[in-house]
Amino acid sequence: MTARKVTVATLAALKARNEKAVFVTAYDYPTATFADRAGVDMILVGDSAAMTMLGLPSTLQIGLDEMLVFIRAVTRAAKRAFVVGDLPFLSYQPSDETAIRSAGAFIAAGCDAVKCEGGSRVARRVRAMVDAGIAVMGHLGLTPQSLGQLGGYRVQGKSLAAAESLLHDAEALERAGAFSVLLEAVPAETAAFVRERVNLLVYGIGAGPEVDGQLVISHDLLGNFVGEIAPKFVKRYADVGANVERAFGEYARDVRAGAFPGPEHCYQIDAADEALIREARRRGVPASARPTGARNAIGQSPAAVTP
Ligand code: KIV
Repeated sequence: MTARKVTVATLAALKARNEKAVFVTAYDYPTATFADRAGVDMILVGDSAAMTMLGLPSTLQIGLDEMLVFIRAVTRAAKRAFVVGDLPFLSYQPSDETAIRSAGAFIAAGCDAVKCEGGSRVARRVRAMVDAGIAVMGHLGLTPQSLGQLGGYRVQGKSLAAAESLLHDAEALERAGAFSVLLEAVPAETAAFVRERVNLLVYGIGAGPEVDGQLVISHDLLGNFVGEIAPKFVKRYADVGANVERAFGEYARDVRAGAFPGPEHCYQIDAADEALIREARRRGVPASARPTGARNAIGQSPAAVTP
């Protein structure tokens, strides 16, 4: 594993050596830092942030400005990993100019490439972004921005005709100049069928082993997704959510029991200064300095807060 920044050329070299690229999503500075330090090759700042980070019902409710906040945090952290920014719903579909402006904003925020959903029907937009000098990854199969048309989170490409249709879309992306395509929730055989027939870097999330690299949503991998969706293709490597909940619970018990903070968490001062402050507390605030009958913001009279 090279310590140098991963580029499209690095990814192509991995494929040429038949080595798999390691690809995860991240949306914040600490997660991206840990992924980068762990040697992850690629980070997707996915529009799945809508669900993983913002608790929204689908990816359709996140906009470009919200994505940019997550993107800036991740690109600040990623010293080596190749960062892909996921163009949100309606940030590229309306016109070539919209696509170039949206993708340009992601590149200006430090992304190495952008991703958009669809094949033939977005090929013109892909060409426009590529002509503007932007590296583009396509996304086929289960494309969450078209959930209404797909009828929910369903496996795609389950027949030869469906596999051929995916191939047709992948070829359109290739002709439009995309460097890569991500296949989501398709049978392993279908992914292999597509990969063998295109000149693209083919990554998979729920697309079996015969692809050039594997993507997993970090919240699924780490066990801190709050929600009902549990895809079959996820392998969980940690139980971060349960650990965080346990830690907050222990903290709450300590605070309520007066066990936190202990002396080791308090700032020490000179004994002489401490004695002077203690003496001032003992004497209390002179009565003349207190407004009579006044109550403070939480409804206590000054006497009630005097030590
Ligand atoms: O937004 C995202 O994380 C994605 C993956 C589900 C592929 O697009």
